[in-house]
Amino acid sequence: MSDLKELFEKGRWYHCFHHEGLTSNGTYDIEQYIKYYKFDADYSGKTVFDVGCSDGYFTIWMKERGASRVCGVDSNKYDGSLAFAPSNATKKDHEVKYMQYAEDYARFRSVYEKFGLDSPNKLLLMSKLKALEVEFHTGTIYDLKTYGEFDVVMCNDLLEHLRDPITAIEQLYFATKEKCIITVSSAMRTGWFRQSNPVITYQGHISGGSFYSLSEASVVAMCKAAGFGKAEVVSRFDMINRVHNVKNSHFVLHAYR
Ligand SMILES: C[S@@+](CC[C@H](N)C(=O)[O-])C[C@H]1O[C@@H](n2cnc3c(N)ncnc32)[C@H](O)[C@@H]1O
Repeated sequence: MSDLKELFEKGRWYHCFHHEGLTSNGTYDIEQYIKYYKFDADYSGKTVFDVGCSDGYFTIWMKERGASRVCGVDSNKYDGSLAFAPSNATKKDHEVKYMQYAEDYARFRSVYEKFGLDSPNKLLLMSKLKALEVEFHTGTIYDLKTYGEFDVVMCNDLLEHLRDPITAIEQLYFATKEKCIITVSSAMRTGWFRQSNPVITYQGHISGGSFYSLSEASVVAMCKAAGFGKAEVVSRFDMINRVHNVKNSHFVLHAYR
């Protein structure tokens, strides 16, 4: 088995990438669900910001559709340290999870080095493999001002992991020139009451470190409070977590300046 094939099959991946006959063994295979994000067909000339980009499936996707500048930011330092502050009850689990990045780097160091990388950052690895120019910054959604403004901003599956989604949405607003695409994984998705009422429930000790279950109406309301002129839910779907073999409910919201 080639080193790269082994990394695709046995490395620590969050996203499944399908590249030249190889498929990375990620937690989520976004390709199957991409239609639900209601992206445009073409992003030629657009600047795109992917906040909480993780392995960067969406960042790469936008660059492949013509974006002139794509920039991913994630709090993961890729050195084995904890990327965000979970509740005390889930801290140990997350320490183990993030340590897997350091283990991945130690195991596949020669592959990363072959591509000039000194970390197991999969966005950077995929950009090298596909010869695409991307930017990556280690940083936090709570402080996006240093990166400037982008035509399109994305924040997928991150708000529910945050202590303070309101401050985060305000930061997304400052970074957005035209449109912000927000996806939320939420047990609160279904049902008329939850879709129409801005309810949020605390669940800090369960479900992958999520602090809150956010209803659709709550995210719409927070977007409007942050300054977005229009915010609407454009789709709902269930996505399979390939590690735990469970379906997670999602909704996608588009917000406009
Ligand atoms: C659940 S993953 C979602 C990844 C990707 N956006 C997606 O939809 O598949 C959340 C990502 O956000 C990152 N993250 C957590 N807290 C963050 C913060 N405060 N600022 C920026 N990124 C953060 C995590 O390291 C992780 O990569």
